[in-house]
Amino acid sequence: MTTIPDSEILPLSLEHTFWTWSAQGKVAPIPVTRAEGVYFWDTAGKRYLDFNSMTMCVNIGHGNQRVIDAIVAQARALPYAAPGMATRPRAELGKLLDEITPPGVSKFMFTLGGADANENAVKLARGYTGKHKILTRYRSYHGASAGAMALTGDPRRWPWEPTLMPGVVHFLDRFGALLLGELLVAPVVEQPVVKPVLVDRPELEKQRLVKPLDDLLFALHGFFSHIRPAVLGRGPGVKRHPPRSPPNEGGSFR
Ligand SMILES: Cc1ncc(COP(=O)(O)O)c(C=O)c1O
Repeated sequence: MTTIPDSEILPLSLEHTFWTWSAQGKVAPIPVTRAEGVYFWDTAGKRYLDFNSMTMCVNIGHGNQRVIDAIVAQARALPYAAPGMATRPRAELGKLLDEITPPGVSKFMFTLGGADANENAVKLARGYTGKHKILTRYRSYHGASAGAMALTGDPRRWPWEPTLMPGVVHFLDRFGALLLGELLVAPVVEQPVVKPVLVDRPELEKQRLVKPLDDLLFALHGFFSHIRPAVLGRGPGVKRHPPRSPPNEGGSFR
């Protein structure tokens, strides 16, 4: 096998390859050469404790012998099969999944990654129900392909709007409202470039966004007005709760 010196891994990777979700001129990748168990090593021999299992994909640990043996055996027997073919791994994995999933879930589609899986799930759901609208949380990540990115809630989606998959409606859930990033989302829906993509009823979308924030402020106000008298003693300046805001009309997802 031809190979390059360790010192070339980083410069050649930077020169000839793209980096997902990154400002291409600002990436600082770790040039990684090997991994074992919970550790991996870079070209300088520095050892890292891999708390993230790379991207949450190697939870069994790096270099597990049973995994290596299975990969080698499959590569020798049948390294590739076309999507329309039945294979032993396909048959065995389908059966195993059936044994551990709830009753009624007995059929599976195998994909090559998360974004691929999510886009296929959307396709199947739309095909089955005949409906088009997909609801996803602002506090969510679903992948980097065009459809999966449309589903993704985090702000890295914004530069790609409005050319992504249509029919996606993002909502802000009760707990998500605690994150500052999500508090920043509210003004954005007012911007014309995002609005047509997010909703077909802008006033409803605004309600969905504002209601959890309103709940949060109400809860914080309640919390602090109880803490203050406890710490400072009751007296002037202790405020009462404001009246609860009226319930949403038709816009609540909780
Ligand atoms: C929850 C979730 N969904 C989807 C994806 C996308 O997976 P992939 O990068 O394999 O397309 C990820 C990747 O980190 C993820 O964490």
